[in-house]
Amino acid sequence: MSKSKARTAYVCGECGAEYSKWQGQCGECGVWNTLSQVVLEPAAATSAGAGQAAGRRAGWAGKVDPPKVTALKDVGHTAETRVSTGIGELDRVLGGGLVEGAVVLVGGDPGIGKSTLLLQAVASMAAQLPALYVTGEESLAQVAGRALRLGLPLDGLQALAETGVESILQHAAKAGPRLIVADSVQTLWTESLTAAPGSVSQVRESAARLVRYAKETGTAVFLVGHVTKEGGIAGPRVLEHMVDAVLYFEGESGSRFRVLRAFKNRFGAVNELGVFAMGDKGLKEVPNPSAIFLSGSARQPGSCVMVTREGTRPLLVEVQALVDSSPLSNPRRVAVGLEQNRLAMLLAVLHRHGGVGVGDQDVFVNVVGGIRVQETAADLPVLLAVLSSLRDQPLADKTVAFGEVGLSGEIRPVPNGEERLREAATHGFLRAIVPKANAPRSGSFKGLDVIAVERLAQALEHA
Ligand code: TYD
Ligand code: MG
Repeated sequence: MSKSKARTAYVCGECGAEYSKWQGQCGECGVWNTLSQVVLEPAAATSAGAGQAAGRRAGWAGKVDPPKVTALKDVGHTAETRVSTGIGELDRVLGGGLVEGAVVLVGGDPGIGKSTLLLQAVASMAAQLPALYVTGEESLAQVAGRALRLGLPLDGLQALAETGVESILQHAAKAGPRLIVADSVQTLWTESLTAAPGSVSQVRESAARLVRYAKETGTAVFLVGHVTKEGGIAGPRVLEHMVDAVLYFEGESGSRFRVLRAFKNRFGAVNELGVFAMGDKGLKEVPNPSAIFLSGSARQPGSCVMVTREGTRPLLVEVQALVDSSPLSNPRRVAVGLEQNRLAMLLAVLHRHGGVGVGDQDVFVNVVGGIRVQETAADLPVLLAVLSSLRDQPLADKTVAFGEVGLSGEIRPVPNGEERLREAATHGFLRAIVPKANAPRSGSFKGLDVIAVERLAQALEHA
């Protein structure tokens, strides 16, 4: 390999934007001190890479056809083949199973259960397609020990303790697995770069090698990354645009429930949720997740049940609020599981159009069960919970709510109203406070008394 001077670039660990010069603040996402230098591979290194993939490239490198334009309708396509992972909730988040040749990044805090989930999935899939589990963090004995303890079938599952991408691809080219799990992408490194393992350039280039291998051979690849959605160490957010799907594992520390969310998916719906419970036998699916996001306590002041719809499934979730007189001149607004700025905005609407002021109160809002609610249907339930806490009066028993609150105090409809009402009715709720446009004309729905509201003031009256 000729050692031509390597080109370098600066990449933002937050959003992946690329710059030719270093700067203190990323111009794309505005975050400070996230740029780090990456070495762009010298062109010669590409064909010197190891494994079958590189072999193929070198093979046709001699007679390079000029790229030609093709009518898209003439391009033959193959229907994507999906393989069940054997875990229903994981299949759901992937959009109905794992697509052949897809590269899926599974991110999440350390210790949340990424390795456990993937080991369970890969063990169950290994019966149908040969799989290779590459571990860079744990020893083979540790992985085997865990598999044994979880009682997993291990037929057809190969394991490899290795962190060098070239050597991983060499093994893969020999063994020919149809599925590779790389746990974790932070430990991978490639010989073609001199940067330290774990650095952004190594993580990026190593992942790119695996992606290329996956696309060339049709092998499905799971990449495990220690990342929170907010970014975090070694900036694997830079991987997001390289891969086909990004799944994040979320959950409150201390809670045994884990939520897997599709953050990006080229083969399915985004924001699709899979719910698991961590137990002594690994991760178990929670097939009826509505029940677990309700605190189960008798009705309390400051609590409101909402019907959210994340991905393609409606979910009952409890929103709790605590409103308390503040000793601070600048009272606090704290939102857990919801967007902070949206809470501030909603409180302003509550004051202006609902006539309820909380300017001298601290307001805390929490979504039960460690789930993050990202849709605007949470607006109305949040305000009902705030009002209930402020007045120290619980909402009527068995009441649910959903609806977006506009800046002029109007209650706007949200998608799939009927489906949400059905979920509430199924779980024995008796009253629903919903946007007028989401309400059935008859005023009731399968035993659910539906209260249609157009303005915030109206909704507060009913509460
Ligand atoms: P792990 O999958 O190693 O997390 P990650 O790969 O995301 O870092 O999960 C580790 C945690 O899960 C650890 O705190 C122990 C817990 N755990 C159980 O509670 N039960 C189990 O059966 C297993 C395998 C792990
Ligand atoms: Mg792990």
